[in-house]
Amino acid sequence: MKVLSVVGARPNFVKIAPLLREMATRPQIESVLVHTGQHYDARMSDGFFEALAIPAPDYNLAVGSASHGRQTAEVMTRLEPVLESVQPDIVLVVGDVNSTLAAALVAVKQGIRVGHVEAGLRSFDRSMPEEINRLATDAIADDLFASEESAVLNLAREGVPAERVHFVGNVMIDALRLTRPLWQASRVFGNLGLDQIPRYGAVTLHRPANVDDPRRLSQILGALHEVARRVPLIFPVHPRVRTALTGADVTWLSASQPVPERGIVCTEPLGYLDFVALVSRAAVVLTDSGGIQEETTILGVPCLTLRENTERPATVTQGTNRVIGIARSRIVDAAIYALAHPPARRAAPPLWDGYAAARIIDTLLGVRVEVAA
Ligand code: UD1
Repeated sequence: MKVLSVVGARPNFVKIAPLLREMATRPQIESVLVHTGQHYDARMSDGFFEALAIPAPDYNLAVGSASHGRQTAEVMTRLEPVLESVQPDIVLVVGDVNSTLAAALVAVKQGIRVGHVEAGLRSFDRSMPEEINRLATDAIADDLFASEESAVLNLAREGVPAERVHFVGNVMIDALRLTRPLWQASRVFGNLGLDQIPRYGAVTLHRPANVDDPRRLSQILGALHEVARRVPLIFPVHPRVRTALTGADVTWLSASQPVPERGIVCTEPLGYLDFVALVSRAAVVLTDSGGIQEETTILGVPCLTLRENTERPATVTQGTNRVIGIARSRIVDAAIYALAHPPARRAAPPLWDGYAAARIIDTLLGVRVEVAA
C-alpha cells in the first residue's frame, strides 16, 4: 500500500511524526511524504523535522505565505502533478490547516482515498479558518480518524456513516509520549535563565481573531500584564504576531540579561522539545492554540484558553483546560485561581495512550478491531 502523507504547518509535523514512525515498521507500506511549504522558517519547520526525527520530505511544494484562497490554490496546483506521478493508494492529511483541506480536495478529485487524522472536531465557530477546513475536509474524506469522543458524535450528527469513522485516539499525545526522554533532557531552562526562577507561566497567541485586531491584542496584553505582576510569563512569539508587538510593553529575552522576575518575556519561537519542556514545568499556560490544550491535559498543567470556544471539549471535561475568553477580569481571575490551585492528577481521555498511530495504520491495512466511542 502506497501512503502519501501531506504536511504544511507546525502542528502537522507533530501529528505526522508518530504515523511515519509506525509506517516505517510495516513492510506492507510504502510511505511518501509531501511538505507543502506553508510554514518554511527554520524555527517553524526544519527544527520540527529534526526534533521529531521526521525524514526529509520526498516533495516540497514551497507554497509559502499568502492569502487563504491563494495559499490553498497553490497547494492544489502544485500537489496535483505529484499525485498523478506517485499514484498513491491513500492520501493521509492531518489537522485543520489550509494545506489539509487543499490536499484532501486534490486527492478526492483524482479518485484517491483520503484519510483525515483528527477528524470531527468542531468549535461551531465558522469565523475560524480552521473550522471551515475541518468541515470541508471531513465532508470529502473517506476514512475519518477521531481523537476524542465528541468528534465521533459530531460526525454522527452530520450524517457520516459510522463505518467511515474510526475512534483511534490522539496522535499528538503519541508524539508527546514518544519524545518524553528528549524533552525531559531539554536545556531550555538554562538557556532561557529559567532555572533561577521559582515559578513562571507560558503564553502562546496566534489566532487571527486575537492577534490581527490591535484592540483585542492590546486587551489581552493588558490582562497578561496583570498576571505577570505575580509570575513572569514566557511568550515564544509566532511570526504572525511579531510586528503587532512592536512598541508593546514586553521584554525580549537576550542572552546577556537574566529573566526578569515579573513581566511578559518574549522569545523567538521555540523548537518542539524546548516548548514541551517549557510547558511541562509551567505553573499556568495561557493560549489560543488547539494542540496545547491537549498537551497540557496530559502534562497536568493548568491551561486557560483565550477563546470563546474549543473544538477539543475532552480537554475541559477530562483535562486541565478552562475556556475563558479574553475579558481582562476573567483572564486575571482565572490565572490567579490556577496559580493557587494546581489541578489534581486525572486519568487521560480515552485512547490518549500513545498508540493512536498504530490504530490508524492498522485500520488502513484492514487489521483493526473497532473500539466503541
Ligand atoms: C497556521 C494555521 C493554523 C495553525 C498555525 C500553527 C491555517 C489557516 N492556519 O496559522 O491553523 O494553528 O498555522 O502555527 O492554515 N510566517 C512566517 N514564517 C513561517 C510561516 C508563517 O513568517 O514559516 C508568517 C507569515 O507572515 C504568514 C503568517 O506567519 O503570513 C501566517 O502564516 P500562515 O501559515 O498563513 O498561518 P498561521 O497563522 O501560521
